[in-house]
Amino acid sequence: MTSKIYADNSATTAVSEKALSAMLPCFRENFGNPSAIYSYGQEAKNVLENSRKIIGKAIGALNNEIYFTSGGTESDNWAIYSACELKSKIGKHIVSTAIEHNAILRTLEKIQGLGYEITLLSPDKNGRISPEQLEKAIRNDTVLVSIMMANNVVGTVLPIKELCAVAHKHNIIFHTDAVQAAAHIPIDVRNLGVDLLSISAHKFHGPKGAGAMFLKIPLIPTAYITGGGQEKGRRSGTENVAGIAGMSAAIEEGVENLEGNAKYLTALRDKLIEYTLKIPGAYLTGDPVNRLPGHASFVFEGVKQSVYLINMLNDEGICASSGSACSASSKEAPHVLKSLGYDDEISHSALRISLSHYNTEKEIGIINEKLPRIITELRKGKGPPII
Ligand SMILES: Cc1ncc(COP(=O)(O)O)c(C=O)c1O
Repeated sequence: MTSKIYADNSATTAVSEKALSAMLPCFRENFGNPSAIYSYGQEAKNVLENSRKIIGKAIGALNNEIYFTSGGTESDNWAIYSACELKSKIGKHIVSTAIEHNAILRTLEKIQGLGYEITLLSPDKNGRISPEQLEKAIRNDTVLVSIMMANNVVGTVLPIKELCAVAHKHNIIFHTDAVQAAAHIPIDVRNLGVDLLSISAHKFHGPKGAGAMFLKIPLIPTAYITGGGQEKGRRSGTENVAGIAGMSAAIEEGVENLEGNAKYLTALRDKLIEYTLKIPGAYLTGDPVNRLPGHASFVFEGVKQSVYLINMLNDEGICASSGSACSASSKEAPHVLKSLGYDDEISHSALRISLSHYNTEKEIGIINEKLPRIITELRKGKGPPII
């Protein structure tokens, strides 16, 4: 690791030693195509099936309820199309929320072109959606409810078990985007009751480009990508064996250490929040209690562009972001903050500091020391020009 402070773990994480060790043989001695019937192929196939078992166990699912994908975006897309196809005879109405990741929002927008109607629920100021709100939005033709487990911009954890119960009362499929939640907060798909769930390896110290979708038996997903018939004919394409091996090692490690990491991260996060809120005109965004252990997010009065803030932090060796990795360089205020009721101006001052267990108390001390000065300078009008 360099001397830089990496504090953007909601965007992506460093691959852990265990994940890397699980991946390396798949590039070297165990490089076979898992569809091949000779020994190289069968060894690769064993890696896949063992990974499926590990990932299933990590979220309380059966191994044959896990389908491998290229990441969270693909899992979200596939989940929506599968639910719509499974319920195509019932109706064309979907309920989701205004704070979903674009992997959901843009897909819902696209599916409107196929005649679907979308209702997006607005969260309260803390980013929470209530079961009563969902109940009111459900119609006779609702086929899917898709609500994220934890928000990427403000870190709020949503009451998925209660929301899922409302959908099920009306016999509606429930999907949750658990990309920010997996291996960070406990997930048991049976206890939650969810039908579909998306995860992405690079958010929990696995590699980029590997993800999974859980689909509860007896539901069967659509054939999403057609071709050579991999993933029981439903998601063709030679599997990313190394990525999948890394993902299963990372989720296993994350779940094993979840309690200890959460305790450690909550303490670091709370120290960061405590110091940052001493800056006049600084506000915590998201839920103060129901939030991801390593996630701290703020807005600052009088700070005009978070791009300046992110650049000045970067000059001090601190890597953080304004909210979403996908819109980090965008001048548009994060849609999440706007839907939480923040006005346009203050939404532009967003800062997200997301920690991992690799972060140290010393690093938090450095952030706490540098941030107030940077905010003061920005308020005086200093900062690099926006390119
Ligand atoms: C909540 C959420 N869903 C989906 C995604 C997309 O995941 P991936 O980068 O694996 O495509 C992200 C990534 O930032 C996310 O935060």
